Amino acid sequence: MSAAPAALQRRPFGKSGLHVSEVGFGGWGIGKSMWGVTDDEDSLKALRAAVERGVDYFDTAAVYGHGHSERLIARVLRETGSAALVGTKVPPRNMEWPAHERTRLVHAFAPDWVRASAERSLRNLRRDSIDLLMFHVFQDRWLADPLWPETLGEFAKLKAEGKVRLVGISVNSDDPDSALEAVRAGTADAVQVILNLFDQRALARLVPACRERGVAVVVRCPFDEGGLTGTLTPDTRFPPEDFRSYYFGGERLAETCRRAEALKADLVPAHAETLAEAALRYCLSVPEVSTVIPGMRTAEHVAANVRAADGRRLPPDVMEALKGHAWNRNFYR
Ligand SMILES: NC(=O)c1ccc[n+]([C@@H]2O[C@H](COP(=O)([O-])OP(=O)(O)OC[C@H]3O[C@@H](n4cnc5c(N)ncnc54)[C@H](OP(=O)(O)O)[C@@H]3O)[C@@H](O)[C@H]2O)c1
Repeated sequence: MSAAPAALQRRPFGKSGLHVSEVGFGGWGIGKSMWGVTDDEDSLKALRAAVERGVDYFDTAAVYGHGHSERLIARVLRETGSAALVGTKVPPRNMEWPAHERTRLVHAFAPDWVRASAERSLRNLRRDSIDLLMFHVFQDRWLADPLWPETLGEFAKLKAEGKVRLVGISVNSDDPDSALEAVRAGTADAVQVILNLFDQRALARLVPACRERGVAVVVRCPFDEGGLTGTLTPDTRFPPEDFRSYYFGGERLAETCRRAEALKADLVPAHAETLAEAALRYCLSVPEVSTVIPGMRTAEHVAANVRAADGRRLPPDVMEALKGHAWNRNFYR
């Protein structure tokens, strides 16, 4: 792993023995799918800026631009000689997000599908080994599926062959408890889950279960897809090909902005310079969190976001008061 500048704090990655930067890199947007216009040159600058500043955890997925995100990350890690950890994901074969509770494992993660996807990601990443290979969706019901031992066995074989170091679960967006049983059963070395100033549900059961099992917690969507950056207004409009055009559709955007303003009033400037910074500090004030992975497409965002990895936490009384801002809703639907 690359040497981190003094200011960038690092944390253990569960009980794996590895350490990662508190701020990692969310690589969905740079895949150029679902996020409107994205310029590869900007993405490459963002990735290089991240490596230069000591970011050494990169999140991606086979489906982010059909491997485009994986390939961009691979290019920058190779050209900079960075040994950063990369987490990627096997998509469900039926491409169903989130996993439907009645979906059988054979339609999502049959062993041959898991292997084929891992091999494809290895080629995209141009590495001999994937640091963390995750299920891109999950259902605890699969633990009772007749195929489960074989699917898990395929991950174990990939590990034994040195093609995968750690196994993870990317938890369904609207249901942090949908992988609780799997975590308790010791299935995963890491989970990736939504946790932010609005959606605090993972703190109830999943995060404590991860603490008990020594499972690394990777926090995604710290900005609620942009709603917690303080840069959106009720008049913001997204192009139709940008998924945020429906995520923030109808009355959702105005309500998001109203709630973001209330958070800003409580947190800025008392605890952070911007709401975005406060949003990252909130995630990093949870000690079980290994790294938070904001989606970044510009070097400027990288520069701003790594500042939250300076070890300064929100005080316990502030964390307690922030429970009052929790807002449970499913905008992914
Ligand atoms: N199912 C899954 O496994 C899953 C699902 C979702 C996300 N993820 C992972 O988690 C990562 C993070 O989630 P996300 O990207 O969906 O959402 P996010 O991190 O909550 O928000 C990303 C948004 O924040 C904006 N932003 C970033 N830094 C900023 C700053 N300093 N100031 C103002 N705005 C800033 C970005 O701006 P721009 O629009 O200008 O780039 C983008 O619109 C993803 O990239 C992906 O790696 C995984």
